[in-house]
Amino acid sequence: MSIISTDISKAVALLTAEDIVAIPTETVYGLAGNIYSEKAIKAIFETKNRPFFNPLIVHIPSINTLPNIVAYIPKKAQLLAEAFWPGPITLVLKKKANIPDLITGGKDTVAVRIPNHTTTLELLNQLEFPLAAPSANPFSSISPTTAQHVETYFKDNIKMVLDGGACTSGIESTIIGFENDEPIIYRLGSTALEDIEAVVGRIEIKNKKEISPDAPGMLERHYAPKTKTILTTNIKEAIEKYANKRIGVLNFKSQIESNSIKLQIVLSKKGDMAEAASKLYESLHQLDQHHLDVIIAERFPDYGLGKSINDRLQRATA
Ligand code: TXA
Ligand code: MG
Repeated sequence: MSIISTDISKAVALLTAEDIVAIPTETVYGLAGNIYSEKAIKAIFETKNRPFFNPLIVHIPSINTLPNIVAYIPKKAQLLAEAFWPGPITLVLKKKANIPDLITGGKDTVAVRIPNHTTTLELLNQLEFPLAAPSANPFSSISPTTAQHVETYFKDNIKMVLDGGACTSGIESTIIGFENDEPIIYRLGSTALEDIEAVVGRIEIKNKKEISPDAPGMLERHYAPKTKTILTTNIKEAIEKYANKRIGVLNFKSQIESNSIKLQIVLSKKGDMAEAASKLYESLHQLDQHHLDVIIAERFPDYGLGKSINDRLQRATA
């Protein structure tokens, strides 16, 4: 029997009983549990096979509940929350003392966001506690953007995927930390850098080495298909190089003519980066199931969501 269901009250019952449930968000599906339940949080780490030092994102239903989670809100964090929540921005702030170490990897900060998905907002509003939820994929694999992706990964490990349709943004939230009250990008994501800068001014991006092993999303190899994947600005040249192989191609907007290509996916024929982002992981899942020798992915223009897409492709190919 399928574990996929649209029954919110069933999700409420399972989560209240300290069980874990996969939930939809606008970015990717998350594997969720009560932040105050050690049993649930341990189950999240074990199911994902995720190292315990990697902290989780706390999902809350409204900005009013933020002071239950964090001890202090810098002015620019308040501005960002008001501008983008509910939405794909995660703020890393000083935690309240009662937030368990298991959620934060023992750090004194906690990551928090309000997801922009009606089903999950309804769920959060019915619960007495926030939900910790990392992306619902085994550690370092491609993130799930449909309930079916989650089912494929975890049908033997969890009781329920709350179905909220395909994720509309399709890549993870942008993560922003604060140093001396100034925002710093920890992970590029579904909110474009330029949109963030329009609210808080120029913002620094910390590269993964500076942020240490804190963040799996910042590890060099992550979001990775099992098939060898390469990233290039010159698809035609790459196709020639792999001429005798089974080739898959992931293009931004234009189709390439070549008999060597076994499967080709164009992310957005009209060249819309938001559309491309929403299809990115689904396309990688598809290509990965096609028994190819190599996936050749086209590098995006380095601005707007293109920057975030390149970040994910880079890690998928590392
Ligand atoms: O869009 C998203 O953010 C999705 C959906 C489900 O909300 N969640 C997600 O979670 O991408 P996850 O666990 O795959 O990535 C969370 C990232 C990790 O890289 C983690 O290390 C970082 O957030 N993080 C969490 N708490 C942190 C903290 N206190 N300091 C620095 N990084 C933190
Ligand atoms: Mg993840």
